[in-house]
Amino acid sequence: MTQTLSDTKIAIIGLGYVGLPLAAEFGKQYDVVGFDINQVRIDELLSGHDTTLELTDAELAEAKGLNFTTELESIRQCNVYIVTVPTPVDGANRPDFTPLKKASQAIGGVLENGDTVIYESTVFPGCTEEICVPELEKSSGLVFNRDFYCGYSPERINPGDKVNRLPTIVKITSGSTPQVADYVDSLYASIVTAGTHRAPSMKVAEAAKVIENTQRDINIGLMNELSVLFDRIGIDTNAVIDAAATKWNFLRFNPGLVGGHCIGVDPYYLTYKAEQVGYLPQMILAGRRLNDNMGRYVARNTIRKMLQLGMDVPRCRIGLLGVTFKENCPDIRNSKVIDVVRELEAWGANVAAADTWANPEEVQKEYGFELQNISAEEPVDALIVAVGHHEYRDLTAEELCAMVNNEMPLIVDVKGLYSQTELEDKGCTVFRL
Ligand SMILES: NC(=O)c1ccc[n+]([C@@H]2O[C@H](COP(=O)([O-])OP(=O)(O)OC[C@H]3O[C@@H](n4cnc5c(N)ncnc54)[C@H](O)[C@@H]3O)[C@@H](O)[C@H]2O)c1
Repeated sequence: MTQTLSDTKIAIIGLGYVGLPLAAEFGKQYDVVGFDINQVRIDELLSGHDTTLELTDAELAEAKGLNFTTELESIRQCNVYIVTVPTPVDGANRPDFTPLKKASQAIGGVLENGDTVIYESTVFPGCTEEICVPELEKSSGLVFNRDFYCGYSPERINPGDKVNRLPTIVKITSGSTPQVADYVDSLYASIVTAGTHRAPSMKVAEAAKVIENTQRDINIGLMNELSVLFDRIGIDTNAVIDAAATKWNFLRFNPGLVGGHCIGVDPYYLTYKAEQVGYLPQMILAGRRLNDNMGRYVARNTIRKMLQLGMDVPRCRIGLLGVTFKENCPDIRNSKVIDVVRELEAWGANVAAADTWANPEEVQKEYGFELQNISAEEPVDALIVAVGHHEYRDLTAEELCAMVNNEMPLIVDVKGLYSQTELEDKGCTVFRL
């Protein structure tokens, strides 16, 4: 390998939540071309706006050295290809490698002697060599670790988080030979001020990323299980966690809906590999099962409380604040709030969902309902606050009560955002995880 930082020309393949910030950061120091197969995405970036809101219009305007394209030929002159395409699961929760394979095939079409392909997408340990490298070799006619090289450096950004950003999160790096590992490490070290951690192999780097999200999934799953249990015992889970967290070695996690395309998906990449090597994972799948059922659990408890309050559910309008998969982020993909909506509808309820961050057209297209207004002027019969967008987090007990057209307002506080006592002092019935 002869590549050096000074002659590095980078192509970022897939310009979503991960790829665009990465392209912008590398673009401050290197020639960078951003490539995506989605023409709409490229057009919006060329017009100076990022609908994922990871970059502001000003940040995008500042990224002057950055080009965006759907044309494969425009990345031919690059010598480093960084892949940030989605790694979803199919309907049966099996990994869908299509985007990874297609991106690898496309890169193979322009790959040249001495080039390096770095994967950032979240995968299972071994995926780069088992799934991606064969595609690269097939479409390029080149030989791995002789003509071209690979690296794996998982992305650890947290969309919507304006504090922990790409340059301030330690980057795990790895390469297919010791020399490539050195090069990949120095490449990321040049943009990540927090520093890098050089993993001993690509498999280790792949495993490290997927267990970060798996660990989080299982811990949230445990809190969700405790929440179901404590509801039966008649104690508040948040109060229990507050008390337990006073011990130095208690790890604080909160119950909640686990959606999106990372924490709720990545563990399936690990369980896929586990089953391939003859091990049936138990804890990992238990976490998945628990978390996947929480939307229905929230909906059923809302109905239970409404019936206890004497409400005629099918005649009620149930308000839902937040449909995105997480707070302060417009991403609605794989949002578990939709499970709440579907379950409420199955009970005959009329659901009015609002969201200050989600794009109404995307919600209509993806889930088939229109976003509505919920306010003191347009109140509902019961209110579920499902997502902690800062606009909802900042609502006072008075403001929440005013949105509910009922003498004994039912507030379902999924994220534990509000003081239960304050709401109860205002005459509310409160349910929270
Ligand atoms: N979003 C996160 O929080 C996050 C954090 C860390 C890691 N990751 C991982 O990073 C990867 C990307 O996630 P994301 O959230 O940025 O996805 P995303 O869906 O926001 O963006 C992916 C982009 O890739 C494009 N694309 C799809 N197939 C392509 C192809 N063959 N060639 C070129 N472009 C293609 C899509 O059009 C899209 O613009 C996933 O593996 C994910 O698990 C995501």
